[in-house]
Amino acid sequence: MENEQQAKPIIKWAGGKFKLSDLIIKEGLERFDMNNFDRYVEPFIGGGGMFFSMTNKFNFGTKIISDVNEELINMYIQIRDNASEVLKITKSIEESFNVLENDDKKKEFYLDLREKFNEGIKVNELDETQASLFIALNKLGFNGLYRVNKHGLFNVPFGQKKKAALVEENNLVAVSNVLQSTEIKVADFRDCEQYANERTLFYFDSPYRPLPNSASFTSYAKLEFNDESQKDLAATCKKVVDKGGKFLLSNSDPTQIDPNDTFFDDLYSSFDIVRIPARRAIGATASRRGVISEILVIG
Ligand SMILES: C[S@@+](CC[C@H](N)C(=O)[O-])C[C@H]1O[C@@H](n2cnc3c(N)ncnc32)[C@H](O)[C@@H]1O
Repeated sequence: MENEQQAKPIIKWAGGKFKLSDLIIKEGLERFDMNNFDRYVEPFIGGGGMFFSMTNKFNFGTKIISDVNEELINMYIQIRDNASEVLKITKSIEESFNVLENDDKKKEFYLDLREKFNEGIKVNELDETQASLFIALNKLGFNGLYRVNKHGLFNVPFGQKKKAALVEENNLVAVSNVLQSTEIKVADFRDCEQYANERTLFYFDSPYRPLPNSASFTSYAKLEFNDESQKDLAATCKKVVDKGGKFLLSNSDPTQIDPNDTFFDDLYSSFDIVRIPARRAIGATASRRGVISEILVIG
């Protein structure tokens, strides 16, 4: 498919890096000779904010993206392999939503989509309809969140949207084009070191370690991605480097809240760490939002 447009994320995703990506690339990659790399690996792909910036700027022979979220990965596979079907289904959902005359009907429509999506999860239906429902729920649900209950069923409430704009056709084509030459997998990050060699660049963007004093900070143990996972990730980075690979890694910076919380400085003490400014909501009130820094580890 012909398309001049540069690809950008299809969905809204917690921790999305599209806006920060130019800064991360500038700060992180200036010391690397990009011509040395012929393979790019992103094991926490999420919305692909960094992936699309990287692939718009550089030509990698091989690209490998993965995530533990099976529905998210199905979306990328379907956009790669069945873009015109995804476009047809999302357009039809969009049109049906936009002709509904009141908020109650829109909410009911959303809940029907959610029900249909969850039926798909129950029977492990990974097809273009499931991918289109995933996009619709991301755009119409509360804040683009992806949250499931203990049975793995999606339970995000309606986002009170008046109008649906699910996909931009040109962008869908641009994304599908980038994905043609991309390996796309459901995988835990611990599986990715097998791809490392002297010509591989990795970008790791795991779920954020909650900042000290933030509402979710109280117990790491309750989080799916806890401090033990962060330690496993640091071990993966070391193995990547042992095999001759290079990596960039992002996370939140606890030292700006608690100067004694040197968790990442300790974990990555054998690598360079730079702090880059990022505007991010760190609390519910405006006074707690502002310019805060993020950590970028360069290895
Ligand atoms: C901060 S988001 C990545 C955001 C992405 N860089 C972007 O621009 O949208 C973190 C991602 O890690 C995924 N994830 C969580 N635990 C994981 C694990 N153990 N292995 C691989 N992916 C994981 C989540 O599903 C989520 O998509």
